[in-house]
Amino acid sequence: MNRIRAFIARAHGLGLALEPRQRQRAPALVRIGPQPHRVTLARVFQTGSLATIGSTALLIRHADADWDAGPCAAIYAPFVRDSAVSFERYAPDADELARRIARISLTHPWLVAEGTPADPDDAAAIIGFAYAGPHRQRAAYRWAADVSVYVHAGQRRRGVGRALYRALLGLLLRQGLLVACAGITLPNDASVALHESLGFMPVGVYRRIGFKAGAWRDVGWWQLALAAPADREPVEPGPPARLEGS
Ligand SMILES: CC(C)(COP(=O)(O)OP(=O)(O)OC[C@H]1O[C@@H](n2cnc3c(N)ncnc32)[C@H](O)[C@@H]1OP(=O)(O)O)[C@@H](O)C(=O)NCCC(=O)NCCS
Repeated sequence: MNRIRAFIARAHGLGLALEPRQRQRAPALVRIGPQPHRVTLARVFQTGSLATIGSTALLIRHADADWDAGPCAAIYAPFVRDSAVSFERYAPDADELARRIARISLTHPWLVAEGTPADPDDAAAIIGFAYAGPHRQRAAYRWAADVSVYVHAGQRRRGVGRALYRALLGLLLRQGLLVACAGITLPNDASVALHESLGFMPVGVYRRIGFKAGAWRDVGWWQLALAAPADREPVEPGPPARLEGS
């Protein structure tokens, strides 16, 4: 109990806004990073943003290419192998995911969600990730980003996708990006509902644009205005923004 009190006190001290439910029902201790990279509570609070799923603490933080590539590859692989959610042909392994995390993090955020394990002696687990990238390469598109999110099959409908996207979209806005776009292979009711719950508006549908898992697939596009665009040329986007204190 003392550790939990210290957890909450430290969060307050660092200016993190705890949800009322989190104050009432103290979350379990959060640790991040696999052995031997476990870090202290202080570092947890300084490098990520905290949310709650029920009474479970959820840490949203920037991905580390070395620590997080394996779990991200494991979450992503079934969507490549067994579905049309991803249009990739072969599931990327951890080495490839590490290269992607490193490359994307130079220009856009790649975030992971870490859930507190039921057993406090177990290492925290990555249960989802979200990242952004350029929408198109031509210069006039430079204020627009594509976004994607994947949540572990056993952790859905608990607010993880929303927490990841809220953090991601906030970072994109701070970076000076103005539009977030999402291409969704149809049908995907969960993804459509998540995007629309965050204000994404449907734009249109590419018909039979990709052949995956034995059939031609439609891809619907959704977009979200992160800020109202002015009529003049906007300020140039900056480097990727970091979560508070990281
Ligand atoms: C889409 C996905 C990321 C949603 O993540 P999640 O953590 O389960 O979503 P959340 O719990 O944060 O849900 C947020 C909102 O999205 C909507 N939503 C999420 N899943 C839904 C579902 N299965 N059915 C209907 N609405 C759903 C709801 O509005 C929900 O809010 P509510 O629970 O308060 O009603 C997850 O289902 C997933 O990983 N799917 C497979 C990969 C994928 O399709 N990624 C998107 C690629 S475009």
